[in-house]
Amino acid sequence: METTGLPPEVRVLQMISSYWASQALATAVRLGVFDALPASVSELALKLDLKEPMLRRLMRACAAVGVLTHHSRDHYELNELGQVLCSRTPHSLGPMAVMLSDPSHWSCWGHLHHCIRTGESGVRPGLGTERIFDYLQEHPDQGQNFNRAMAAMTELWAEQLGASYDFSPFRTIVDVGGSHGVMLAAALKAGHPEARGILFDLEHVVAEADEDLRRHGIFERTEKVGGSFFDFAPAGDCYLIKHVMHGWPDEQCIQVLSHIRRAMRPRARVLVLEMLLDEEPGMGDLLDLNMMVLNGGAERTAEHIGQLYAAAGLRLQRTIPSVGFYFILEGVAAA
Ligand SMILES: C[S@@+](CC[C@H](N)C(=O)[O-])C[C@H]1O[C@@H](n2cnc3c(N)ncnc32)[C@H](O)[C@@H]1O
Repeated sequence: METTGLPPEVRVLQMISSYWASQALATAVRLGVFDALPASVSELALKLDLKEPMLRRLMRACAAVGVLTHHSRDHYELNELGQVLCSRTPHSLGPMAVMLSDPSHWSCWGHLHHCIRTGESGVRPGLGTERIFDYLQEHPDQGQNFNRAMAAMTELWAEQLGASYDFSPFRTIVDVGGSHGVMLAAALKAGHPEARGILFDLEHVVAEADEDLRRHGIFERTEKVGGSFFDFAPAGDCYLIKHVMHGWPDEQCIQVLSHIRRAMRPRARVLVLEMLLDEEPGMGDLLDLNMMVLNGGAERTAEHIGQLYAAAGLRLQRTIPSVGFYFILEGVAAA
């Protein structure tokens, strides 16, 4: 839907109702609608066991937001945007669409006002647990989908990682909060052929990582370490820590970095991989609210990350632009 040139009231209405679009898309993904195309609406209703009149309305809405092309009352075609949500598309954003509308995220967003009033996250009032990761462990469907969504987003970036940073000096690369090891695979492939990987994440997350480690061809080179990054870090000479710091308040980030500082070998490098906030408000500021409601985390500026490094006995040595909005913030032991 085109928005420019419309009256302010219409544009604001589109903004305040934009969750209708995200829920419609996520629902179509969940029900398998995009994956089942091409088919007529009536065929789809039969195949997916859905109510045809309601499915027709859902598909009209998907066409209205631009992910399906409308040919006739009974025929819709998957277009370039719709393909991005199909599970057969490499790096599909389907799991991300589902994750953002799952209770794990959706319920926390319902408590944004609580965060702004109290400084707390939306996890306790929204999910009833202390941390979102406790909730994801208790709800394995959402937890597994969360890991799939992270892997897809990271795969989009990982292919370019080797072009942004030289991994050849390292022999032990530790992926801290590494989920199923997509970033670790990219670093190992870009690095020394004898380098080995350590995938460090919560016990139940690394327990399910084997298939992805095999798919990325690093199963034989990788040791899995299950545990909490608030308790320790494994020894290594390069630490990847991607999209982890933005999930936590400063105090917890310093705790994680301090464990890395204690475990790191001489001349080791710490690589925080994050989007950075700009002087001017932008897309990062909406992600910032997402992190606020989820775990009391935050998107940060490079200067802010430098302060977290310093508080943990590290020094921000370089900020390297990588793919898209992403940056590599290289830390070393403070002298
Ligand atoms: C946003 S995901 C990022 C995953 C991965 N680094 C990426 O960018 O694709 C955060 C990761 O931190 C892990 N995590 C959360 N709490 C943790 C803890 N206390 N110790 C270790 N890992 C943790 C989660 O399981 C999850 O895999």
